[in-house]
Amino acid sequence: MAETIVPRPQAGQVVSEPGHRMVDPAALRVRAGQLAELEEARLRAGTPGSQRMHERAVRSMTSGVPSSYQAREPWPIYLTHGEGSRVWDVDGTEYADFHNGYGSMVQGHAHPAIVRAVRERIGLGSHFAMPTEDSLVVSEELARRFGLPQWRYVNSGSEATMDAIRIARGVTGRDTIIKIFGSYHGHHDYVMVSIGTPYADIGPAEHMNSLGYGAGIPQVVIDLTVPVPFNDASAMERRIEELDAQGRLPACVIMEAAMMNLGVVLPEPGYLQAVREITARYGIVLIFDEVKTGLCVAPGGATERFGVRPDMVTLAKALGGGLPSGAVGATAEIMEVVASDRVKQVGTFNGNPLTMAAARASLLEVLTAPAYDHLDRLNDRLIGGCDAILARHGIPGYTVGISSKGCVNFTDAPIRDYTSFMAHQVAELPELAWLYNANRGVLMAPGREEEWTLSVRHTDADVDRYLECLDRLAHDLVAVAV
Ligand SMILES: Cc1ncc(COP(=O)(O)O)c(C=O)c1O
Repeated sequence: MAETIVPRPQAGQVVSEPGHRMVDPAALRVRAGQLAELEEARLRAGTPGSQRMHERAVRSMTSGVPSSYQAREPWPIYLTHGEGSRVWDVDGTEYADFHNGYGSMVQGHAHPAIVRAVRERIGLGSHFAMPTEDSLVVSEELARRFGLPQWRYVNSGSEATMDAIRIARGVTGRDTIIKIFGSYHGHHDYVMVSIGTPYADIGPAEHMNSLGYGAGIPQVVIDLTVPVPFNDASAMERRIEELDAQGRLPACVIMEAAMMNLGVVLPEPGYLQAVREITARYGIVLIFDEVKTGLCVAPGGATERFGVRPDMVTLAKALGGGLPSGAVGATAEIMEVVASDRVKQVGTFNGNPLTMAAARASLLEVLTAPAYDHLDRLNDRLIGGCDAILARHGIPGYTVGISSKGCVNFTDAPIRDYTSFMAHQVAELPELAWLYNANRGVLMAPGREEEWTLSVRHTDADVDRYLECLDRLAHDLVAVAV
């Protein structure tokens, strides 16, 4: 296809080509519904092996999947293997992988350096619950990259944010915490609050509602977590003042410096600096949850990319090169509560030798400076290409991303936080785009709020395949919807 590279838009800019009329979102919704039926039928016809595996799986594994985030009606796609930027399903279909294990595989699948490190390590014993040299090499490298001197390990992003919050509570002696409305920080009770909320239940910016995400979370825990909007430092400050007046000064603000899990929402100029200043002034621990951004947007994550230093950082996903992993980094003052054993930071599998061997190889041999140059170049091409397609076909929206991460926002207004996302996203289109991609050999993370993740093994051919799918989708939408 003929691809026009257009200048990269500013975050939040709604792109249109001068002289091009936007297709009405209501018409797009109708057309999207019709196309989704056709594409769903095509997907079912193309995945008989997954259907059979699902029939067997549901007998012993609830909903036929290891995690509810892997479920899909009527059945999910079951995979066999991956190599580089590609994965294969049980029917033998090859996909260019932009899902990448919810952003864990920025190294690409079966990277030779990581395969070698894990192979060598497993022959030497895979678990002792005693420290090995690789764990200190990894912490030295993380300290260098993130500018935070002290590190501990866990086994997932949820464990990382849970431990970080407990440490912040231990340091400050306070219980209340602040999070950003709509931000996902894992599946433990402290943070399963105010995510995936229907628009009508969000509440005003100054007083957003604390709402549990699913059953089983005690109301007393929900009430300790206070949500505020992204990209609005004054709303955060007003909420802190109010909590302070009630004798509930927060222990921490936990946030992503650039929001993932809502497509990608970049911080507006000055926002992170203002948050840093406010939290420092009130003695509130600032935690950047870099489980997604961590090693994916720069060597030192969003912390390096946006030049604002938090008090703590949480990592997981890409840290382990495909093995379960997680880490908490902090200043020496903060980690004193752990060193003194006032806060218990523990776990049988923390610093597992296999994970540490994979992380060491990943950090020292794979995620090097040229790797980030490669990711930046490919992502710029992908973002420019997507915007050119939207503009050419008059589809409302814009593309936004950083380094390996990005998404097409199908929206008729800029998205700067959860409220604008829920108000303006044409929600039928990400679902339809997922189907179009899957039926044409491109695997995306499912869900209206997911972003793509490139790997260092992705090539221009993978970007072309993604752009071809989007062009097909845009063409088919507009063919009838105008
Ligand atoms: C920003 C962020 N924090 C924490 C988590 C939880 O990580 P895990 O699924 O490894 O527990 C996620 C998972 O998507 C995440 O995106």
